[in-house]
Amino acid sequence: MELKGRRIVLGVTGGIAAYKAAELVRLLGKHGADVQVAMTEGAAHFVTATTFQALSGKAVYTDQWDARMPNAMAHIDLSRQADLILVAPASADFMARITHGMADDLLATMVLARDCPLLLAPAMNRQMWENPATRRNVAQLQADGVQILGPACGEQACGEVGAGRMLEPEEILEEVVAFFTPKVLAGQRVLMTAGPTFEAIDPVRGITNLSSGRMGYAVARAARHAGAKVTLVSGPVALAVPAGVERIKVKSALDMHAAVMAHVDASDIFIGVAAVADYRVANAAEHKLKKDTGGIPPIELIENPDILAEVAALPDGPFCVGFAAESRNLEAYAQAKRRKKNIPLIAGNLIQEGFGGEDNRLVLFDDTGLHPLAPAAKSVLARQLIEHIATLTGKN
Ligand code: PMT
Repeated sequence: MELKGRRIVLGVTGGIAAYKAAELVRLLGKHGADVQVAMTEGAAHFVTATTFQALSGKAVYTDQWDARMPNAMAHIDLSRQADLILVAPASADFMARITHGMADDLLATMVLARDCPLLLAPAMNRQMWENPATRRNVAQLQADGVQILGPACGEQACGEVGAGRMLEPEEILEEVVAFFTPKVLAGQRVLMTAGPTFEAIDPVRGITNLSSGRMGYAVARAARHAGAKVTLVSGPVALAVPAGVERIKVKSALDMHAAVMAHVDASDIFIGVAAVADYRVANAAEHKLKKDTGGIPPIELIENPDILAEVAALPDGPFCVGFAAESRNLEAYAQAKRRKKNIPLIAGNLIQEGFGGEDNRLVLFDDTGLHPLAPAAKSVLARQLIEHIATLTGKN
């Protein structure tokens, strides 16, 4: 419920991407936002007001002269009640009109009368996006403090390929969540690890663990929302890259170690969420092991580098945060790991609660003692962890 209590006016203008605004209403509502839809006449050619009404649970406004407001001031009342006006899709025509302060329909009038921020997610043909008139309008809107989301590049509804496609509803949701998140890590460079590692036995078999990557990806997303530049070194997982995060895919602990060491100089904070294999196979076979050739093959293990401990030992290294997954004695084992690796903060979790699912329970251990966080979704815990890191690093 990252948008709980946020009042968002979603403006929908005329373009084929208007159909995606329906999904956006659903996503914003699912994340707790109170969404009021206002459509232009053009948008009604693509999607009906009934669709938005059904999804938002509220009557949709389209008409400047709507008599529902007792004072006949729909534009003032609706924009004053909003924490944010988001227009998605924003057509070239709509952007041109609001650039010039025109108030020739309800949505444009609301934009002009607003006292809240405005986000636009443009959607138009690539030629229209590249037209000097649109370029001028975008530059002017940005100079006026309007935030432009996207557009994306790719195949367009008209069959042409280029920039101008509206961001996907999930991407717009991410931008809206980021917009409302306090920038407690503004300007910080966060390097992190997430997911499992995979240690090859032969070309098709290996040793791995049950980490899904969810906890680490949630931390990456929260750090990015908090204003950090995030580099995520990830073991093999089936998760999408959080918007705005640079992901480096790795397989083994040695790969992860190399990727971290290559980026650590350019980082202020290092967070090790990955479940890194402590050992790898010393005698990994070049070819697939055959069952019927000489009995059970011996698997010899050798120790992997401890990435977190190595980063923590760097002179002038980043502020280090570790994770500890334990099956028992959480406090004693997590504290022992914190001391052994010489790091200021470790987040402890029980393996039966931490691995795999959407929820978790974390206890934070630092120099001041322990800070248990209430069981919650990994996204919520990630946000709390980021706030704690910001406090410890003096950024909050
Ligand atoms: O991915 P999910 O399914 O969401 O699950 C999340 C999680 C349970 C994996 C996560 O919350 C978690 O606890 N990660 C740490 C797992 C663990 O037990 O790590 P560890 O005790 O082996 O290592 C302690 C710390 O040292 C960790 O920060 C780890 O990343 C780091 N480490 C460990 C070994 C090694 N060779 N290099 C390391 O950097």
